[in-house]
Amino acid sequence: MDLSPRPDLWSLDPDVLHLNHGSYGAVPRRTQELLARLRTETEANPMLWFRSVADRLTASRLELARFLGTDPAGFALVPNASAGVTAALGAIPIGPGSRIVLTDHTYGAVRYAAERFARAHQAEVVVVDVPLEADDDSVVAAVRAELDERTAALVVDQISSATAMVFPIRRLVEACDGIPVIVDGAHAPALLDNPAEDGADFWTGNFHKWPAAPRGTAGLVVAEKWREATLPLIVSWSEYDERLPERFDMQGTFDYTPWIAAPESLRVLADLDWPVRRPQLSSLIDEGAQVLAKALGTDLPDIVHPAATIRLVEIPFSAQRSSEAGESFKIRVSRELKAEITLTGFDERIFVRLSAHAYNSLRDYELLASRLPTLL
Ligand SMILES: Cc1ncc(COP(=O)(O)O)c(C=O)c1O
Repeated sequence: MDLSPRPDLWSLDPDVLHLNHGSYGAVPRRTQELLARLRTETEANPMLWFRSVADRLTASRLELARFLGTDPAGFALVPNASAGVTAALGAIPIGPGSRIVLTDHTYGAVRYAAERFARAHQAEVVVVDVPLEADDDSVVAAVRAELDERTAALVVDQISSATAMVFPIRRLVEACDGIPVIVDGAHAPALLDNPAEDGADFWTGNFHKWPAAPRGTAGLVVAEKWREATLPLIVSWSEYDERLPERFDMQGTFDYTPWIAAPESLRVLADLDWPVRRPQLSSLIDEGAQVLAKALGTDLPDIVHPAATIRLVEIPFSAQRSSEAGESFKIRVSRELKAEITLTGFDERIFVRLSAHAYNSLRDYELLASRLPTLL
């Protein structure tokens, strides 16, 4: 089996080190070409195109649900994980005085969503501290300690953004014992097998991250008891459709081509032997992170369950530790070093969050390691 790097399948600028797939993904050429054909078809006859959309969405949904290993009757398309979390928060009862429990790893925009719902219902948001190097027992114990009869929901990352930790979702669902659990699986598709099958009430995840689907493609998986109450964020003609997936399909006049083209990226992953390639990328990112840490003279945090293709490398960041300083550093890395990285912060520590996808090779990390110290 040939597992050599395949940058040729993407259209990424070869003069740039692309080491942050996790933020916005990257769409392979084949999917881009299909998207372009679908858009040409739309513009050849918009009326004909829109008459065909419903059937094409059904076909796409079935393929995406199969990829996740989930029941298609509970799988709806949403534009992104933010929309998935928002729709889930809109479905659960949140009474005055109740609490929405999160962790300090929760993605910032997801925390804002919880805060919006808490404000609207005179509820409050409670943030559980989970140490970076916590094992599953400590994660479950920390969350369990904040659950009580006031808890309206637990909103928890499956793979955290800033820290790239895999959370023990099945055990957290058990600990919640009937309290609704909303899983933010933004990074989970293609990094975890059957990510939506841990028994949570709601799960959402992005196809536009690791599965490399066109941007604006995400899924929302809803447990049977919540399907009737779960509504899309845009009220449109399918408002009274009793079937969850169809209710989310038609969101007014909108560009549906990314949703229809998304399965092509799943076929690219299949052709890349993803189940075998993913562990190979884990070894690559381990090696790449070590090369960078050595160059920076720092240690790698000891994360118990790191995400398959993401690693944190601590950076001895002497500049002021503000988000503006971080942004301007990333811009300098992009302009002066021709490298795309992201920085994350947790517990007063700043990390480079490195990624590996099928287009990366060890040389990418070696080059970053030779260049990054020049900016510190
Ligand atoms: C953990 C997590 N949740 C939610 C999101 C939001 O995803 P989107 O921008 O696709 O809504 C992200 C994006 O990076 C994320 O990492």
